[in-house]
Amino acid sequence: MSVSRPLPHDAARLHVTGQARYVDDIPSPAGTLHLAFGLSEITHGRITHLDLDPVRQAPGVKCVLVADDLPAANDVSPSAHDEPLLSTGSVHYVGQPIFLVVAASHQQARRAARMAVIDYAEEPAILTIDEALAADSRFENGPVEWATGDADQAIRDADHQLSRSLTMGGQEHFYLEGQAALAWPQEGGDMLVNTSTQHPTEIQHKVAEALGVPMHAVRVETRRMGGGFGGKESQGNALAVACAVAARATGRPCKMRYDRDDDMVITGKRHDFRIDYTVGYDEDGRIRGVFFEQFARCGWAMDLSLPVADRAMLHSDNAYHIENMRITSHRLKTNTQSATAYRGFGGPQGMLGIERVLDDVAFALGRDPLDVRRRNFYPSASAGSVPATTHYGMPVEDFVLDDICDRLAASSDYAARRQAVRDWNAANPILKKGIALTPVKFGISFTLTHLNQAGALVHVYQDGSIHLNHGGTEMGQGLFQKVAQVAAARFGVDLSMIKITATDTAKVPNTSATAASSGSDLNGMAVRIACDTIRDRLASFLAERHQAEAADVIFRDGQVHVGAESYPFATVINEAYMARISLSATGYYKTPKITWDRIRGRGRPFFYFAYGASVSEVVIDTLTGENRILRTDILHDAGASLNPALDIGQVEGAYVQGAGWLTMEELVWDDAGRLRTHAPSTYKIPACSDRPDDFRVTLYEMENREDTIYRSKAVGEPPFMHGISVLMALSDAVAACGSGGLYPDLDAPATPEQLLTAIERQRAAS
Ligand code: MTE
Ligand code: MOS
Repeated sequence: MSVSRPLPHDAARLHVTGQARYVDDIPSPAGTLHLAFGLSEITHGRITHLDLDPVRQAPGVKCVLVADDLPAANDVSPSAHDEPLLSTGSVHYVGQPIFLVVAASHQQARRAARMAVIDYAEEPAILTIDEALAADSRFENGPVEWATGDADQAIRDADHQLSRSLTMGGQEHFYLEGQAALAWPQEGGDMLVNTSTQHPTEIQHKVAEALGVPMHAVRVETRRMGGGFGGKESQGNALAVACAVAARATGRPCKMRYDRDDDMVITGKRHDFRIDYTVGYDEDGRIRGVFFEQFARCGWAMDLSLPVADRAMLHSDNAYHIENMRITSHRLKTNTQSATAYRGFGGPQGMLGIERVLDDVAFALGRDPLDVRRRNFYPSASAGSVPATTHYGMPVEDFVLDDICDRLAASSDYAARRQAVRDWNAANPILKKGIALTPVKFGISFTLTHLNQAGALVHVYQDGSIHLNHGGTEMGQGLFQKVAQVAAARFGVDLSMIKITATDTAKVPNTSATAASSGSDLNGMAVRIACDTIRDRLASFLAERHQAEAADVIFRDGQVHVGAESYPFATVINEAYMARISLSATGYYKTPKITWDRIRGRGRPFFYFAYGASVSEVVIDTLTGENRILRTDILHDAGASLNPALDIGQVEGAYVQGAGWLTMEELVWDDAGRLRTHAPSTYKIPACSDRPDDFRVTLYEMENREDTIYRSKAVGEPPFMHGISVLMALSDAVAACGSGGLYPDLDAPATPEQLLTAIERQRAAS
């Protein structure tokens, strides 16, 4: 059975028929209590008076917990122990949990949570990047700087220089299933937690810490999430820990799910960034040197901000070999939600910086941006030349963007359509079109090296059916389906023989978050190793019986072949069982080749790169700023795809989500630090009707040169950055509103409002 088949997601039918069980669908055990947080109403200050009597007296309330009631620890941070579950007297953003209400129903808990009387002594708040810089409010002692070559000298020596600044907004994850957890007290003080998380081991760790018990007393189970997108790497900790401490306090099962507004107000989002750049470039479009200054707004607690900001620095080259580069990264601490992981994990922000530079340089030289991009590409892997090295010292051995861009430019008819756009714009005063082709090179592996490991557990039952478990979590991306295809292929059996089971810390321990797009790379390998252990045992058993070589035992089409004989898989399993052969095995995998020194910013942080490119064509109504994506062509490298149908789905979804980030998703905080866009009524995510009218996604079928699972490549995050071509196409359309000269430096999100302003600027300058 070939592994790589475009099969549907294993739970697709359950999703569309409403049978897929999420945390909130688990039938509540008798006596389940429901939780809600009481939240800070101010950005920064001290609580001078907290009257919780009205909360305690509200209908249905069983108890109210504050920091002092917590049994062992008061921290839900994934990194720095700087994030109390409940405020210890100071508050740092509007929405910070202060107390925890435990009530008979979800609604009663929510209503009661609003009844506290809280007095605060307010302190000055730091909301913006500029305010944080002025106050020197940051994580780590100062900015992080990495450099290669001599950027300042190279910029000075170049034919031309330019300096500009770009801002990009954050992004709400808007997973359809909000954060949710359920904790069931077990005998002897043990706790079972069902939770919507990308990181069950982290939940286990934080719950154990909060209860003051060893990790073995806590078991975490996650069947699936209704989307995570990075928002469930760390942001679920608070709910799971709250449920566990409330369950411990009451002896009853406790469940918590955030209402959508609370979810948006409490949890962290994508980091918004400002990037200042100075570039030196030659008349032929070749970039000699770049200096980037990146400012990341991290919010009030550290969370995952340091590795996110690192990844932004790591992707500041994108597809381009720039010999002289200096990057300074400021990780700014502000009185806002603690910004967190979000698809691309800082990569999109870093990449947008360099893509803007390329567009800016092309505009200044009056050249086609695609020519300027190509001129600066890393040398091709196929050319047989010595690979060039990134600004962090990693040789780029697998560069294929020249080929991808050639093919995409041809299949999308880029050159002719660019001319057609020019012709259209010359003839039409109101509707203006734009087109852009942008590449993506994205590094695959966790930059915290030790996270690049995974485990699996496989059982074969007496009837030949197979129970599959691994440390990865399912959030809609299709990981379970891909890994089941791997297991079916190893045993040569039909997929119906494989039971996919919930992620469970009692089955596979010490797992990493399902993140950094590495889910199938890591867990696919661990499962393969576990399956092969059992397969090898079966093969030796049969070989001995038939006086054959174990290597000659073949598992295919539901049969096991030994020489001329073949037996149904189930028969072999039953005989092996009778012969007392173990039919259960674990598998363990760690990614080879990676070494990374994050302090020096040197090494090989990534096992390999995933590549792709996109062409977007857009149209703007210059009277209203409204716009549409008319056509999108994407050629994306998923290696030898494990499942082309799922991979194309990932590319399509990621592109639309990336376009949403850069065009319509706008987070607005008011001067009092309150998030005003905290519901779908005010925060606009792309809908089905916002996808391109004509959407053509193709996989670039080429084996990974590295030895990954069936030579596939990670696909979860890289295509998010294809959304960059939409912003560049919008810029191209805005440029057509003037007579040239002024570069339309559109900030993101390029909402209709932003576009109108840019169009006015463009017209005024011509
Ligand atoms: N696809 C769906 N449908 N839902 C999600 O939540 N998360 C993305 C991506 N694709 C996500 C998704 C993110 S942020 C990551 S890191 C990867 O999936 C994680 O899964 P993988 O490693 O198995 O690709
Ligand atoms: Mo994805 S941001 O690595 O969860």
